[in-house]
Amino acid sequence: MSKKTVRDIDVKDKKVLVRCDFNVPYDENRVITDNRRIVAALPTIKYLLENNCKVILCSHLGRPKGEVKPEFSLDIVAKELSKLLGQEVKLAGDVVGESAQKLTSEMKNGEVVLLENVRFEPGEEKNDVELSKKFASMAELYVNDAFGTAHRAHSSTTGVAEFLPAVSGFLIEKELKFLGNAIENAEKPFVAIIGGKKVSDKIGPIEALIEKVDTLLIGGAMAYTFFKAMGYNIGDSFCEEDKLDLAKEIMEKAKAKGVKFLLPVDNKIGKEFSADTESKNVSCSEIPDGWEGFDLGEKTIELYSEELKKAKTVIWMGPLGLYEFDQFAVGTNSIAKTLADLDIVKVVGGGDSAAAIEKIGLSDKFTHISTGGSASLEFIEGKKLPGIEALQDK
Ligand code: ADP
Ligand code: 3PG
Ligand code: MG
Repeated sequence: MSKKTVRDIDVKDKKVLVRCDFNVPYDENRVITDNRRIVAALPTIKYLLENNCKVILCSHLGRPKGEVKPEFSLDIVAKELSKLLGQEVKLAGDVVGESAQKLTSEMKNGEVVLLENVRFEPGEEKNDVELSKKFASMAELYVNDAFGTAHRAHSSTTGVAEFLPAVSGFLIEKELKFLGNAIENAEKPFVAIIGGKKVSDKIGPIEALIEKVDTLLIGGAMAYTFFKAMGYNIGDSFCEEDKLDLAKEIMEKAKAKGVKFLLPVDNKIGKEFSADTESKNVSCSEIPDGWEGFDLGEKTIELYSEELKKAKTVIWMGPLGLYEFDQFAVGTNSIAKTLADLDIVKVVGGGDSAAAIEKIGLSDKFTHISTGGSASLEFIEGKKLPGIEALQDK
């Protein structure tokens, strides 16, 4: 069932509480290193401002666990938002306390107030009813646009929706459309690229995708759990020893479903986990002891690129190597470049995959890069996201 958006109700002149996911990465000097989640929230905020609303924004940042910790203040987000919107965004000194009540009761139409980090409140992650009521008391309407937090049932993502008319913003609408369409209405051949660290993290999406795709390309550290299950010597590569049976089951399932299941044929291995460690390209069946597999090898990059060139729809979750170190980012970057040149539907889920593509400046070349990490994986897995379930049906 599709959900109402801000377009489906009368927002004119209303006082609106908007839950965003402003949980952005920042460095030790508290400089935001990737503002995509803030940029992605702009269409909804601008729409409400154009409709003469009073816009109250809220979000979490990091995991302060119910305590007021200045290092998790949303001050950096207020500054960035002011710059992007070209108007002042006032930051409340608390979440639902005196400062927030005062600022939000005095605001005029067309103004924007940002509440402090919702996770400064101990009730937030407990979905506390009293806190939900306090959020609701500040506004006439609730809009959820925090796709990245939609898998959490917290006060500001679900609880508040019981006490106000609740609809989605444009970001959630867009995420559901692109992720949903990529899976449900994929034009074939449909290829999924699954990488990242652990088989266990991706098992939900893998099982869901096996039902839909023509081809599964496996990369990243998780490939070694499959190799171990196949009886290969994987040297010192990362492996989930307790997931070998699961890896076998996945391979059998793919076979039974007629899904082409490809693992790397060669890989770049390193001596130790460091940026400038000695490295070499070897076949995946010949990893010596004392070495770890950190990236796809040259033949695999070629092989996977050829598979992708046959595709009409590609979904990608999880980097294909230890992309944080340049010498092991070649697989991930090469596949991103191959995809960038293809005129097909290409959708990316998972936090690190999105970061890897952003790092090399290719985000614009993709149909959709989800702003959700775990939320996108859970959505692809077919789980219901509480932050979306709580919204009004169309
Ligand atoms: P996503 O966030 O996109 O879902 P994951 O969190 O599952 O992806 O995995 C990303 C992490 O996996 C990155 O930190 C990356 O360095 C790591 N990784 C990928 N391949 C390897 C590898 N071969 N060896 C070690 N770490 C790897
Ligand atoms: C994310 O970054 O995945 C979301 O903002 C959710 O954050 P959380 O895992 O701390 O709930
Ligand atoms: Mg990750």
